[in-house]
Amino acid sequence: MPSPRIAVLTGAGISTGSGIPDFRGPAGVWTLNPERVRLLEIDDFVRDKEVRVAGWRDWRDHPAWGSTPSIAHVALARLADAGLLDVVLTQNFDGLHQAGGLPAGQVVEMHGTLRTTSCMRCGKSQPTADVVAGLAASPDPACADCGGILKPDIVYFGEQLPAEAIDRAVHAATTCDVFIAIGTSLSVYPVASLADLAVESGANLIIVNAEPTDYDRHATEVIRGPIDLAVPALVDRYLD
Ligand code: APR
Repeated sequence: MPSPRIAVLTGAGISTGSGIPDFRGPAGVWTLNPERVRLLEIDDFVRDKEVRVAGWRDWRDHPAWGSTPSIAHVALARLADAGLLDVVLTQNFDGLHQAGGLPAGQVVEMHGTLRTTSCMRCGKSQPTADVVAGLAASPDPACADCGGILKPDIVYFGEQLPAEAIDRAVHAATTCDVFIAIGTSLSVYPVASLADLAVESGANLIIVNAEPTDYDRHATEVIRGPIDLAVPALVDRYLD
């Protein structure tokens, strides 16, 4: 019996074990401060200097900077090492899948990355760490080359997802035998529709999440429990 082709979709819930809060869970960023979502709206970011200044302060202080991969990130890397994992589609911008040992070529960052920042006018790219290091002098950082607005390479609400990421995600969802959604409320589109696509393409959907999602009824299996326990156990099931 050939090994099943496995595609994994992760959300913020896989990084809570690394000290990074999720968005919609009980202690989520949007749960506790709903008004903060404005800092991730692209139109507000472009139009309102105050939104940019507050947003850049948030990126400077983001817990992702000092975080380390969780047990679950490392467990998925073990699955990849065994040649059993096709790809991880992640909505997270913290880079922890790669830090946890997953080859960068097997990680598709659907919502971009915090690692780099680009000028919205000329496209010049630079490390975000360099930009946040200079915030004291430049709280609303502008491009040194053209004066354009700088923004981390994270997909803001109202922005298109990278076309290449969508293509790879659709390919993964339509060719896998098992689609495992980990730590995501499956409430943001177009990424959430990948679960539909996988099921329609004949894959088994497994959902690992502390709270119910709209896709639970389509799942072959729902594992309701702490990700850092459930994911290693699930991985061991495939490795045995
Ligand atoms: N164990 C199990 N489940 C967990 C754990 C945990 N340790 N920690 C969090 N969760 C679950 C929460 O219950 C929640 O349902 O993970 C889910 C995370 O959902 P969201 O906070 O909505 O995160 P996500 O689905 O990644 O959000 C998608 O929305 O805010 C935008 O662009 C942002 O990429 C993000 C997108």
